[in-house]
Amino acid sequence: ASTLGAAAAQSGRYFGTAIASGKLGDGNYTGIANREFNMITAENEMKIDATEPNQGQFNFNNADRIYNWATQNGKRMRGHTLAWHSQQPGWMQSLSGNSLRQAMINHINGVMAHYKGKIPYWDVVNEAYADGNSGGRRDSNLQRTGNDWIEVAFRTARAADPAAKLCYNDYNIDNWSWAKTQGVYNMVRDFKSRGVPIDCVGLQSHFNSNSPYNSNYRTTISQFAALGVDVAITELDIQGGSSSTYASVVNDCLAVSRCIGITVWGVRDSDSWLGANTSPLLFDSNGNKKAAYNSVLNAL
Ligand code: XIL
Repeated sequence: ASTLGAAAAQSGRYFGTAIASGKLGDGNYTGIANREFNMITAENEMKIDATEPNQGQFNFNNADRIYNWATQNGKRMRGHTLAWHSQQPGWMQSLSGNSLRQAMINHINGVMAHYKGKIPYWDVVNEAYADGNSGGRRDSNLQRTGNDWIEVAFRTARAADPAAKLCYNDYNIDNWSWAKTQGVYNMVRDFKSRGVPIDCVGLQSHFNSNSPYNSNYRTTISQFAALGVDVAITELDIQGGSSSTYASVVNDCLAVSRCIGITVWGVRDSDSWLGANTSPLLFDSNGNKKAAYNSVLNAL
């Protein structure tokens, strides 16, 4: 196969990228994205501040621009994201308690109704666990509504679109020896044992010198999979762009049958949220394939 998407499809997987609606007029960008990727995540356009800028008033203009581009080009989407402490609109930031809990439920229902039957995977909850050694929840306005907020979000999402696969997504849960990884693992195990609807775990996989790739990544993927959920690599970027690290990530996913696909967090280095100088992606800022691209293609 000569593209990332086609190469991933050889093993029944997908290869995706984050897309920014503001760049859909850039032919170099859309040319690469259309050619190489077959799964799309909106980089910001499906987040809470974008889709419900005023309470009860939903806006899907930019989200739909990406959805329509993806669909017209034969690509599926990962929905990102419904409940998160970050990128909340101002009105939500100022809520707490029962009114925030109900606003979260209404938000999930509003967004999932708009895309009902159209988006196969949703990041229902994003980044709910704390960094460091606690292995516990992150403090946030959502967490302060009660520890059950995550399972309420998942139950709400299941009812809103029963066809969607529901994912928990986080960063720094790649390294099996980290407390945060174990915290999320224990939550997923608990949800599966109690019948809370969860179908997948997203490993964001933003690798850098503070959270480097570790060879126990394959163990992490297989341990989550053994709980009976799919695993997706959802926001991959590697500061420095090491070809061998990119190949290791691909090999680790391919080693676990329930690792269903890989998404990189942007097309060209110049599109990266990290800045082009860190060279984290598979295409350089001119849109040329990097060594890491060839490494990934060969590993798939
Ligand atoms: C980032 C986007 O790439 C930026 O454009 C935005 O300013 C901030 O969010 N984890 C996530 C993603 O789940 O939504 C974040 O995306 C990167 C970290």
